[in-house]
Amino acid sequence: MLAASFAATIKRTLFSQEEIARTIESLATRIAADYARKPLLLLGVLKGALYVTVDLARAISRVPDGPSSVGIDYLVVSSYGNSSRSSGEVRMLKDTHQRIAGKNVLVVEDIVDNGLTLSYLQSMLRDREPESLRSCVLLDKPYRRLVPVDVEYIGLTAPDAFVVGYGLDYQEKYRNLPFVAQLRAGVISE
Ligand code: IMP
Repeated sequence: MLAASFAATIKRTLFSQEEIARTIESLATRIAADYARKPLLLLGVLKGALYVTVDLARAISRVPDGPSSVGIDYLVVSSYGNSSRSSGEVRMLKDTHQRIAGKNVLVVEDIVDNGLTLSYLQSMLRDREPESLRSCVLLDKPYRRLVPVDVEYIGLTAPDAFVVGYGLDYQEKYRNLPFVAQLRAGVISE
């Protein structure tokens, strides 16, 4: 049961909990095969990729003959401030715990929209000389790109709406919804 405070502000569910779970499983199957017998480091981009990163890590471990090991690390960036529009300015709030040089790094993001956040992260991480660098996003809004960005693993294409849930927030709310939803008009101030 959804709390009344959430139900009043949500317009519709875009991706159900089950659809997200199936998508994560299928991403995990591809990733596990591509990194078979190799060590893999998942680098979750917080806070949005909180759920995707842990669910993906667990799903990868359920695939037989996958990576030889799966490490998890996080970095925290802020690109939206408190609005629903990207400022274009990406701020690194917390860097990774470990050195990534020589590692097979897979950046895990909740959503790629205009591409500025992921392209900034990719160029910053590439400078640190990982063995390999790929990216995985749960949701994609390909028609919104301002900069081109390579994403090897894409889960679902999101409609042209500001979405929340499963880690995605609006002004730090709604992250805890187990599904991805669109908010009602009037909830979001642009
Ligand atoms: P980009 O730099 O525009 O590609 O946006 C990347 C970041 O903006 C994501 O990691 C999200 O945190 C945030 N973001 C983009 N679109 C949405 C949305 O529809 N809802 C919530 N957050 C979003």
